[in-house]
Amino acid sequence: MSPEVKPDYLISPEGLRLDGRRPDELRPIEFEVGVLKTADGSAMIKQGKTHIIAAVYGPRELHPRHLTLNDKAYLRCVYRMATFSVPDRKRPAPSRREREISMVITNALEPALFLEDFPRAVVDVFIQVIQADGGTRCAAINAASLALADAGIPMRSLVPAVAVGKADGTLIVDLGDMEDKYGEGDVPMAILPSTGEITLLQQDGSFTKEELLEAMQMGLNACKYIHELQKEALKRAYLKRAPEAGSEGEDEEEDYEDDLETDLGESELPEEEE
Ligand code: CDP
Repeated sequence: MSPEVKPDYLISPEGLRLDGRRPDELRPIEFEVGVLKTADGSAMIKQGKTHIIAAVYGPRELHPRHLTLNDKAYLRCVYRMATFSVPDRKRPAPSRREREISMVITNALEPALFLEDFPRAVVDVFIQVIQADGGTRCAAINAASLALADAGIPMRSLVPAVAVGKADGTLIVDLGDMEDKYGEGDVPMAILPSTGEITLLQQDGSFTKEELLEAMQMGLNACKYIHELQKEALKRAYLKRAPEAGSEGEDEEEDYEDDLETDLGESELPEEEE
């Protein structure tokens, strides 16, 4: 693979980004809920080239016991990048960065959960980055909150997240890897849409007060859009499983029987008489 080259500019003279997006345009986002059959809840996100799977187990008995919280469940998020998720092989041992991201994800998700309903238990959230192309902490929060809902963990709301950054002096939403690496900074954020509460806000690089306020407003708008996609993904998953879906299944079965009849019918069709 050819070594990465620093681009001459991140915003073209036409005002477009490296991948042709407008400054306020998100990468294409695809969610799928219930992708792992053995987990209590799971979800997948593809956000541009960033690809992540989240799995939730619990509430269940907590080990090691010394972590037990008497008044609520312990939310244990583990963010990891696969060794093949980046072009330079990522060392398999958990890095400081992975531990830090695990912590900020926990903090971003916890306010959405009614953990007090499950004292002494643990809710495990395992996040695996399959392919990293920037914005993995936010994409991880998007997928993890869907996986928690899929596991039936009582929640105040889903948690959408996005990073807003700055490239060539322009504020841009949902940074790709090159924008993250060569841009002037980024502000990852997550919100609880039900209350407007901000559960993640970090800043890398320097922004003026006005820029920061505008970036947060852009992030808020993007989060609202992501929240709609999350709800749609959850509905799709439940529609598939709902008993009414049985009627759809029956239709399919009928179609199948029709096909069989047709097949059998054809095979048993009497020879046409001249
Ligand atoms: O992914 P996110 O922007 O939330 O976190 P970051 O710490 O700002 O990392 C930015 C990006 O750097 C990641 O998404 C990866 O694409 C890349 N990265 C990498 O290439 N190799 C690593 N060992 C870690 C991150």
